[in-house]
Formats: sequence, C-alpha cells, structure tokens
Amino acid sequence: MLIQEFIQRLPKAELHLHIEGSLEPELLFIIAKRNNIDIPYKSIEELKKAYNFSCLQDFLNIYYQGASVLQTEQDFYDLTYAYFVKCKEENIRHTEIMFDPQTHTNRGINFSFVINGIYRACEDAKERFDITSFLIMSYLRHLSEADAFITLKQSLPYKNKIKAVGLDSSEQGNPPSKFKKVFEASIKEGYIPVAHAGEEGNADYIWEALDILKIKRIDHGNNCLQDLQLINKIKELDLSLTICPLSNKELKVVPNLNNHPLKKMLEKGLKPTINSDDPAYFGGQINQNFIEIQEALDLTKKELFELSRNSFEYSFLDKAMKAKYIVELEEFYRINK
Ligand code: HPA
Ligand code: ZN
Repeated sequence: MLIQEFIQRLPKAELHLHIEGSLEPELLFIIAKRNNIDIPYKSIEELKKAYNFSCLQDFLNIYYQGASVLQTEQDFYDLTYAYFVKCKEENIRHTEIMFDPQTHTNRGINFSFVINGIYRACEDAKERFDITSFLIMSYLRHLSEADAFITLKQSLPYKNKIKAVGLDSSEQGNPPSKFKKVFEASIKEGYIPVAHAGEEGNADYIWEALDILKIKRIDHGNNCLQDLQLINKIKELDLSLTICPLSNKELKVVPNLNNHPLKKMLEKGLKPTINSDDPAYFGGQINQNFIEIQEALDLTKKELFELSRNSFEYSFLDKAMKAKYIVELEEFYRINK
C-alpha cells in the first residue's frame, strides 16, 4: 500500500484543532451573506490570497476577522458539522476540539449560542459518523485574567459539555503565569488544563505551563528541544505534545518542514502527535499534515503508526475507549505494515 493511502486509512485522533480555524472560505462567505455582514474581500480567491503569514500575530488578525461572521447558534453548528464531515473523510475516529468563547462573547454573541451550536454538532457526529469528541474551552491570552474569569463563570452552566480548558492566541509577552489563578479555579471546577506553549515562546513558557498551570498536555511545545532538563521533565510527567506541521510552516515557526523538530522528539522518546491546528488557513487537514511531514522527514509506517497511537493514548478518553481505538489501529497496522 502506498504511504499516502496508508495515511488516509490510518485510524487517528485529532488533539489540536481550533474550530474557528476550520472555517473554510466557502462557508465563511455563505455565513457572512446570510448574516448581512460585509467582508473586505470580493471573492473566495481574494480572501485566500490574504492567507499569507509571516508570524502568529499576522495569522491571528485574519483568523479573528474570519470568526467575526459567526453569530447564531446555527452558524456554530454548521461550522462544527462541516469539520466533522472532514473528520469522516480523514478517518479521524476521535477529536478534541478547541473553541474560543471570548472571540465571540466580546462581540456580543451569547455564550449559549457558541456552546450549544458546537455541542449539538458533536452529538450528531457521534450518531451519524460514530466519531467521538470532547470540547476544550480556550482562554485568549492577549486578554486579561479577569476576562478569562468571566468566561469561566459563563461556562459553568455548561460544565458537562466541556472537558478541558486551554490557552491560545498571542504567546509572546503573555506567559502562562498570567493565568495562574484562572487555571487553578478551572481545575477546581473539574476541567483538565492544557495550554499552547513553546510555539513562538521559548522553553521558559513551557516550564511555566507545567509548573504553574499544571497542564496535562502541551500544545505545540516545539521549543522544548532547547532545554535538556525540560525534555526530561516532560518525559517524567509523561505528557504529549500536539504538533502541527503545516501551521508551523505557514507561521514560520520552522524555516521548512525538513527542519521540523518532530523527528528529534521521537528520537528523544517524547510523545508527539500530528494535528491540523487551523486547517482552513494552513493548507490542509490532518492527513495533509501527515503526508507533508512524512515526506519531509522520511517517516516510516512504524513511526506514523506510533504517532497515531500517541493520539489515542494521550487523548482524554477513558481507558476502555482508548483500548477500543488502539485495537482498531493495531489491527489496521498489522494488516497494512
Ligand atoms: N496559536 C495560538 N493561538 C491560536 C492558534 C495557534 O496556533 N490557532 C488559533 N489560535
Ligand atoms: Zn493552536
């Protein structure tokens, strides 16, 4: 079996996906039109031309602009359902979806529209596609901790629909320590903590995320390789890193994929996974991420299998569900290796 088909059919979990970043230009235009929102692009082609980034902040500006077309519960449902249709095509069996409430509530959108629209699509995807999912409510780190506390409070009536809390947006200048108290409070409410760290920020940001926010998974974490002690600490804590190759390429976190740290992470015994981050903006879904990184680093089928195994193993599923998916994956690998 060719490697591309192997990747396509490999059962996998996605652990780093911003639902707002899955908004494809076509759906963005449809939603903008039905909500009577003027967008500063005449056509889908013109919009796509704007997707050319020199750093994280460049991207975030466009991403928040794109997300601003989302207004009704139905918009959030349609956005999320469209992502699940892609999941089915990509053979994603389980996904842990991040959403940014503040991107919407700060525009006057009701928190309930966001969570109910997204969650209803998750339920439908379970029923129609047999894909399981969890939601990760992410705090925007360029805003204040007090702002994050408001979001935490708004989420409490919907606690049973949310598995974890995350931390995203502009990393430089907004270290994890800024959110110490709101993470402590979130953990008390039963949310599992995760955070973006070491994407543009250095290894110190990852240390803070571990020591101060007590995170259970590291989003990106590329820059951990700067610090041998940190690598050992991550291994001791047995934490996974959610790696996003095309995102790293498009945001110039790596000069090109041949220099991507993924291979070194595997060699050092870390537990990376492959993810799409914001697939509508970075040129591909999860399988395209697998395909390009496989090619750039000459990854073997065994390594691809390991990456997929990590995605189930380090998901927040319970033991029984992890075992079920891993048996499915091992069966696939046994036949197709
Ligand atoms: N980094 C930080 N914030 C984000 C990202 C990312 O890759 N995607 C969406 N928000
Ligand atoms: Zn991200």
